[in-house]
Amino acid sequence: MGFKVGVVGATGAVGRTMVEVLEKSGVPVSELRLFASERSAGQTLTFKGVQVKVEVLTEEAMREGFDYLLFSVGADVSRRYAPIAAEAGTTVIDNSSAFRMVPEIPLVVPEINGKLLKGYRGIVANPNCSTIQMVLALYRVHDRYHLHEIFVSTYQAVSGAGHKAIVEYERQLAGDTTYTVFPKQIAHNVIPLIGDLKDDISQEEWKMINETRKILNSRSIAVFPTTVRVPVRVGHSESIVARTLFPIMSKEDLVETIASGEDVVVHDYIITPIEVAGDDYVHVSRIRLFDAHTFGLWVVADNLRVGAATNAVRILKLHSQLNSDLIVESEAEEVEGR
Ligand SMILES: NC(=O)c1ccc[n+]([C@@H]2O[C@H](COP(=O)([O-])OP(=O)(O)OC[C@H]3O[C@@H](n4cnc5c(N)ncnc54)[C@H](OP(=O)(O)O)[C@@H]3O)[C@@H](O)[C@H]2O)c1
Repeated sequence: MGFKVGVVGATGAVGRTMVEVLEKSGVPVSELRLFASERSAGQTLTFKGVQVKVEVLTEEAMREGFDYLLFSVGADVSRRYAPIAAEAGTTVIDNSSAFRMVPEIPLVVPEINGKLLKGYRGIVANPNCSTIQMVLALYRVHDRYHLHEIFVSTYQAVSGAGHKAIVEYERQLAGDTTYTVFPKQIAHNVIPLIGDLKDDISQEEWKMINETRKILNSRSIAVFPTTVRVPVRVGHSESIVARTLFPIMSKEDLVETIASGEDVVVHDYIITPIEVAGDDYVHVSRIRLFDAHTFGLWVVADNLRVGAATNAVRILKLHSQLNSDLIVESEAEEVEGR
């Protein structure tokens, strides 16, 4: 017995990673279905040694009923198809920004607020990649000392903008420096703008501001982000300076508090994105206590895994553990290569 699972957007940068992470996750999958646009119909991806065909996403397929659907498509596609699947009784874990700020939809980082999944069925939102690694590095400090201001500059990998962005970056590295995905050349450069501006703040920055408050369940945390694209293939980095309401006891206590976070690893020496690409942890180094209320961190994580696919699969796992009575397991016994 196992779950009937589908990945929507399976051919994308995150979708492919979801299939890989799912394969190694220990989640019992009895049937895996892969969906994308007409452009990729007929392609195959390998899951546990079986070639699985990519199907065209349709409303009819979404009405079929799955135990879990992992969505990794743009927000417009999620808005159209995810509610249809949820209506059919499927638990949908959505990676886009479509539902994150809808009050009744849980925005989940399992290590922090996974309890919201208990008894819940419907659409679950996966936060933005930069937000996930920041809140994982900070949540235990928030529990102990109450964060009230976070100043963060990000150094975000090109893969954060999807498959087309990786192709553009690699083309530029080979000498063709024209661009259509990014607003400037990214190879050998940095671009201090991710998404369109609204009131002088970029879309990516708004996500960090609003999602952090929702995940940490605190309206009073002020987040001041500057989000920057850098010429790195995989792995986002963040320079964070945060201020607490209560005084931090000591540098040792700060380090221990950060390190007590689940799936968080603290390093004595610097850690860089190329070293963490492919793993499932948030890595913290350069911890500095500037004064009793102010500290600094350098945080790196694989944006495709920690920031997207791994978080989604962790949501699936925890949801299934907390709600075994809610899950109607599919009858299929084997992975069906369709
Ligand atoms: N990249 C990251 O680090 C990251 C992190 C967190 C969240 N996210 C979010 O995750 C989502 C996917 O990101 P990505 O980076 O994987 O993008 P991507 O590489 O561009 O992949 C997009 C996927 O969506 C599919 N798709 C596009 N239009 C479709 C349609 N009309 N019907 C069905 N499928 C369609 C594509 O299929 P085709 O191959 O057929 O075009 C592809 O499989 C986005 O909402 C993004 O904001 C990304």
